[in-house]
Amino acid sequence: MKKSNSIAYKIAPGGKLSGALRVPGDKSISHRSIMLGSLADGTTSIRGFLEGADSLATLQAFRAMGVHIDGPEQGRVEVRGVGLHGLQAPNGALDLGNSGTSMRLMAGLLAGQSFDSELVGDESLSRRPMRRVSDGLGRMGAVIETTPSGTAPLKIHGAQRLRGIDYRMPVASAQVKSALLLAGLYAEGQTCVTEPAPTRDHTERMLQGFGYEVTRHGSHCCVTGGGRLHGMSIDVPADISSAAFFIVGATVAAGSDITLRHVGINPTRTGIIQILRLMGADITVLSEQIIGGEPVADLRVRSARLKGIAIPEAQVPLAIDEFPAIFVAAACADGRTVLTGAGELRVKESDRIQAMADGLQVLGVSAEPTAAGIVIDGGFLGGGDIDSHGDHRIAMAFAIAGLAARDAIVVHDCENVGTSFPGFAQLANSAGLRLSVLEERPPARTSGR
Ligand code: S3P
Repeated sequence: MKKSNSIAYKIAPGGKLSGALRVPGDKSISHRSIMLGSLADGTTSIRGFLEGADSLATLQAFRAMGVHIDGPEQGRVEVRGVGLHGLQAPNGALDLGNSGTSMRLMAGLLAGQSFDSELVGDESLSRRPMRRVSDGLGRMGAVIETTPSGTAPLKIHGAQRLRGIDYRMPVASAQVKSALLLAGLYAEGQTCVTEPAPTRDHTERMLQGFGYEVTRHGSHCCVTGGGRLHGMSIDVPADISSAAFFIVGATVAAGSDITLRHVGINPTRTGIIQILRLMGADITVLSEQIIGGEPVADLRVRSARLKGIAIPEAQVPLAIDEFPAIFVAAACADGRTVLTGAGELRVKESDRIQAMADGLQVLGVSAEPTAAGIVIDGGFLGGGDIDSHGDHRIAMAFAIAGLAARDAIVVHDCENVGTSFPGFAQLANSAGLRLSVLEERPPARTSGR
């Protein structure tokens, strides 16, 4: 569907961040709460659900497969689970919009159903690699058609007999791991995945919360098909990936002091904290507690002088969505920051290495892309016009860059911020950003990067 209008952000220089605020719910956990809640026996009550376009796409897809879901109403959702074998064939293709997590996880889950299904997405999602899920699932006996270039639409042929496999994942991807584990619920015997590096483990934790056994030995984790899930209550913490923009913003804007409430600090997600601390950031973790199997805390962030670093490669999967914000921190740091081992950034909602390098160069920063990373020499940030490429995280990264820039920044094509962070502009302004929202015509895009 062609967009009829879009929005731009104009950020005036000179703001700083202060106060206490809570960013919206975790996107990864929100998706999984709908998926597992739908497959459970009994009702699942969710609070803190992210009412962003991506998680709503998942919610609508399960409604289209006959699941009764009430809400969302101020973050509250009630899912009346239909059991592992209770989904019904949807009437048409399931449109997952911009959401890679919905598409890849659902490919696994739908591979085990008795009916055929088709998954489609927007222009960006239709460019993203899907063979990474269809290959592994194919080895389990799933039949999934992609386009010749390995992209969506995905045609999933149901009524296949899936068998458990021991799968060594070629990429460190929580989406691939989760797709295999979800298919594993329907497979004969044990399905095991080995990850090349630790990735977010929300699927494993939530399966256990629903009473489904998951065994884990180091990088190897397994489920056995044929069990059951039992409905539960889920308290979704605030998304550290959304908090990241405020963590970086408060760090780079002199005089800032901000507290981010109830943030999920699962150790598979806290690369942003580790990386920024290595650069010299002042981040204090307060009131840490475990809620529903996930660690949660308040984060206090005060402005600090940063220095450039070589980002440890082991941190890359643990901060994979936070690099647009981290690159802004690097642009404000003294000296050189070097990122390597992050080729995955090229196949996110946009090519995030290129999009960030282009945008930082517009602001006068030396930012040189490499095949799997970037080299950024920090220093002076000017103003200018930035293309977000319709990528929510690129848009928000350049919005917070406005806190450290000497001139106004205008970020174009920001409509998709609503996929992960509805209300970003209002919340950021309430904390001290000087952002105005402008209406604009959508950019004409002929091809992806
Ligand atoms: C996600 C996994 C990551 C991340 C994405 C959410 C998830 O993707 O970038 O935003 O919820 O499993 P990859 O698995 O492609 O690394």
